[in-house]
Amino acid sequence: MTTKLDYTKAWTSAERYRPYGHYSEAYVAALETAVAASPYTNTYHIQPKSGLLNDPNGFSYFNHHYHLFYQVFPYGPVHGLKSWGLMTSTDLVHWIDQGIQLLPDTVYDSHGAYSGSALALSDDELFIFYTGNTRGADFSRAAFQNGAIYHPDGSLKKLDSPLLTTPQGFTQHFRDPMIFDYQEKKYAVIGAQTDQQEGAIMLAHATNDQLTSWAYDGQLHFTDANMGYMIECPNLVFLDQKAVLLFCPQGLEQTICDYQNIFPNMYVIADDLDVASTSLTNASPLHNLDDGFEVYATQAFNAPDGRALAISWLGLPDLDVPSQADGWQGILSLVKELTLKNGQLYQYPVAETLTLRQAQEKVILSAKTPVPVQSNSFELEVELTKDNELYLFANSDNTSHVSIKIELKNGKIELNRTNLPIKWSETYGLTRSTTCSTTANTVKLNLFVDRSSLEIFINEGEKVMSSRIFTASDQTFLFAKHELSATIWALKK
Ligand code: FRU
Repeated sequence: MTTKLDYTKAWTSAERYRPYGHYSEAYVAALETAVAASPYTNTYHIQPKSGLLNDPNGFSYFNHHYHLFYQVFPYGPVHGLKSWGLMTSTDLVHWIDQGIQLLPDTVYDSHGAYSGSALALSDDELFIFYTGNTRGADFSRAAFQNGAIYHPDGSLKKLDSPLLTTPQGFTQHFRDPMIFDYQEKKYAVIGAQTDQQEGAIMLAHATNDQLTSWAYDGQLHFTDANMGYMIECPNLVFLDQKAVLLFCPQGLEQTICDYQNIFPNMYVIADDLDVASTSLTNASPLHNLDDGFEVYATQAFNAPDGRALAISWLGLPDLDVPSQADGWQGILSLVKELTLKNGQLYQYPVAETLTLRQAQEKVILSAKTPVPVQSNSFELEVELTKDNELYLFANSDNTSHVSIKIELKNGKIELNRTNLPIKWSETYGLTRSTTCSTTANTVKLNLFVDRSSLEIFINEGEKVMSSRIFTASDQTFLFAKHELSATIWALKK
């Protein structure tokens, strides 16, 4: 008889960094079985087969396929020795699991193949730029920015030595190189912490066409405000001739830009990148990229078809979630297209997401009659009138649910998870809110519900609220405070 392992136990750091060879086939089989049986398993989102998934990495278009790597520790639902897993797709919604492709197996990445990016050099070579995390005998950290070449047959060759080491003036919290094309050259932005413990972003450029030689340009200036103690996962994309910088500041003062999550994912929009002065010209103030409960490490790139595509980790560092009891945590968002409308950033699931829609159903939601949904795996479209309230993930008498409310006075939209029987992450509050610019009396919502996630797109992407939702098994009904007609599409797995 096998006893179920306790996946919620605390892991020592020795356990987190154990070589993968330590884990027996029986251990992996038991873990995968526990994960497969998890009631929180999503149906149309990317999630790990086992263990922990965090940042999307290397999001790129290569050899006629989108490539989407991700951070993974496959042996438990905790941050341990990280590798890159890979999913490929031709349409950004149907993904094929290609397994783990980049392992922490050299002296320059012994304690984790950390986050990074990828860019196709040809149909045969995908250049991968990633951070190798290492620890010395005294557990002191050293970070290396490493290169690798990935081929369509699945072979991967790491470059022999790091492409960049940490420059003077910065600590070893230096990581997450994101490569991009700009004016016929290849650049990278890298997340950093200065010796004064301030969050920063470095700009670097390749000095040869093979991308095997790199040099620093300097620290990227985009604000006068103090960026907390660290910036992770910077990305620079270009939209309508504007430069949009996405990044994750840690320890940011809420007075600079208000947020409620442990760490925010933010952006600024600038007129351009000025390499000579290593600055973003005329950069806007900071904005939250997403006003939901769990979203981080968004990775974006300018795809060859002209779109700017983005995908997020629906999770946060240093946060426990209920699925850990089943041996896993972390999912990726839908793929979103980034656009600018009236100078504002919009995010909306890529058009291909429509191909997931199955039978359409028109329903009337009300306070009294529960509307059952077969499984919590659907898209819901509503025009929510101000002062109405929508209840999702509800039980049959609506005593537990997630609610979304729009206030008449100020167009404030509030997402509330107070009424859920399962609790997590309560320290950071049970409500999140956002506002939208609409002067009309209604707000259009497209809600993508999956078994343990909810992505809310407000007014076709003007604002986004992305969250994990963990409910009891009977919470499969919809209600509204005042009568409301809605359209539901079941979504393909
Ligand atoms: C962000 C992050 C990155 C790092 C990776 C390690 O979530 O901390 O800065 O490269 O995760 O998994």
